[in-house]
Amino acid sequence: MAIRLGDEAPDFTADTTQGTIHFHDWLGDSWGVLFSHPKDFTPVCTTELGYVARIKPEFDRRNVKVIGLSVDAVDSHVKWEQDIAETQGTAVNFPMIGDPDRTVSNLYDMIHPNASDSFTVRSVFVIGPDKKVKLTITYPASTGRNFDEILRVIDSLQLTAKFKVATPANWHDGDDVIIGAVVSDDDAKKLFPQGWTAVKPYLRMVKQPGR
Ligand code: BEZ
Repeated sequence: MAIRLGDEAPDFTADTTQGTIHFHDWLGDSWGVLFSHPKDFTPVCTTELGYVARIKPEFDRRNVKVIGLSVDAVDSHVKWEQDIAETQGTAVNFPMIGDPDRTVSNLYDMIHPNASDSFTVRSVFVIGPDKKVKLTITYPASTGRNFDEILRVIDSLQLTAKFKVATPANWHDGDDVIIGAVVSDDDAKKLFPQGWTAVKPYLRMVKQPGR
């Protein structure tokens, strides 16, 4: 069954390059990003893992734990990580799940048989501290992901979890935001006493709160 936004992220126990983890316990109170790779020793995945390792401080700063997965076993991941460190300039600094029996891949519907019946697609799940799925994205095997976009969505999710706002197209942290559609003007006066710009009655732009 496909995983939908708002579903509880399935829990599992798995071997990883950093030992056995119980997923929900491992997440603790943090946000999480779980992302899958079609296969070890493949070129696009090699660049992706190197990039995520390089920007891991950006995930840490947002209280987000990252964890990768491919259907190969942990001992294969460990060998591949030597190549990633050598070619991408950064050693993989987060756990990689070994999933040779496809337990986690099947739980998260990461194998799309009409694309490939043996490799996972490039899935991304962002999971909130409440263990609910906040974002799912699926990329084809031939397209490396834009992890800066994942960080951008996390910024939006963390902002909208705190304030009654939404973020417009192509928003980045620091840009103006939209007052939530369910907030009446009377309530908005209390929440945003500095005022807002009403482009339309339903499109009210305000400075990003909390900055
Ligand atoms: C890659 O990571 O380059 C890749 C993996 C599986 C299929 C196609 C490309």
